[in-house]
Amino acid sequence: MMRDVAIVGVGMTKFGEHWKKGLRELISEAGIKAVDDAGISGKDIQLIVGGSMSSGIFAGQEHTGALFTDYLGLNPIPAIRTEAACASSSVALSTGVMAIQSGRYNCVVVGGVEKMTDVYGGLATTALAGAMDRDNEAHFGLTFPGVYALMAKRHMHQYGTTREQIAMSAVKNHENAMHNPNAQFHRKITVDDVLKSPLVADPLRLLDCSPIADGAASLIIVPADKAKQYTDTPIYIRASSQASDTLSLYRRSDITTIGATITAAQNAYKQAGMTTKDIHFAEVHDCFTINEIISTEDLGFARKGDGGRLLQSGETMIGGKIPVNTSGGLKAKGHPVGATGAAQVIEAVEQLRGDAGGRQVDGAENGLTHNVGGSGSTVVVHIFSRNRK
Ligand code: COA
Repeated sequence: MMRDVAIVGVGMTKFGEHWKKGLRELISEAGIKAVDDAGISGKDIQLIVGGSMSSGIFAGQEHTGALFTDYLGLNPIPAIRTEAACASSSVALSTGVMAIQSGRYNCVVVGGVEKMTDVYGGLATTALAGAMDRDNEAHFGLTFPGVYALMAKRHMHQYGTTREQIAMSAVKNHENAMHNPNAQFHRKITVDDVLKSPLVADPLRLLDCSPIADGAASLIIVPADKAKQYTDTPIYIRASSQASDTLSLYRRSDITTIGATITAAQNAYKQAGMTTKDIHFAEVHDCFTINEIISTEDLGFARKGDGGRLLQSGETMIGGKIPVNTSGGLKAKGHPVGATGAAQVIEAVEQLRGDAGGRQVDGAENGLTHNVGGSGSTVVVHIFSRNRK
């Protein structure tokens, strides 16, 4: 019988441009906040699993697992670095969950970091393009905005999704970020602002894109049986599910859907014994606006092709049937790629603890996070609950 797992502490840096902080300062800040939040002693921690996507190119530093233990003052415990592009820290969480489920560890720090703003924009784009098929896509000049632009064009063509509907994702997420002190942007925007912002990869514009960002996020996980020793409000991990698909977009039969999202989500609902109706909010991977639409369909919140209409209906706003990206999402909270998955989980924890302030979803009992690596080659879905079963 595998053990249940709970989150007892969380901590993150603000996301954005941190000119005075390097990887180690970001990691330390997030890690120490999580340890303080859990009220544990460093001596309790037995393992660190930390994600980063491309710290070598972005910051000239690899071996970030060792950096995590060293700068959190936790030597000589073991450390594992996970790398799965923008899903790196969700894979850190699923790895940490396995470490606890197996019975081998009783207290694990999981998290992620990325420091992206020290390189010029072209190099950042090249580093990110390492998450797609290097030989068959990036080599020919395809970029990530380009990948998601192809998906957007096809979605518009196939399902009649409008340019305005796509923009509504950015508008909603910038609005939500106004209530998130850790978000990169605190600026309301309109559909018109999105449509008039500079073109990046047709049809996607600047305000359809998640930004280049710095940041770190950490969580403390323990066996569910021990969670109440640390906190009165543990958040239980009801499902931890990961799936894979082709590295390249062109080898998929349908680019309006991410198959790995469907697989990971279906497995997650099964593990949790839940359906979409039981989920009260979701943090989904809106690296580009179109992906929020595609993801709400693939996660089962809308029928295929209806994601744009779901967004337009207002049901994904706070107060709607299924609030999506209450944190501001990757679009407005920021997307320091290696830290993003863990930060999505922090939003879920704050919502479920009732600590989300102006962006609180009333009565939130269960929430879902969805984190994508590349164009959908890796997808991780987690489901969290205030209740153990
Ligand atoms: N959303 C809102 N504002 C943004 C922004 C974004 N995504 N990106 C930049 N800005 C703002 C900046 O704050 C700056 O504002 P200011 O003039 O008031 O200071 C202005 O736009 C110009 O910023 P700059 O850094 O010069 O932009 P850029 O043209 O170099 O980069 C993108 C813009 C969209 C190309 C870049 O953000 C990007 O590559 N995003 C995608 C990242 C990505 O692919 N992640 C992985 C996903 S799978």
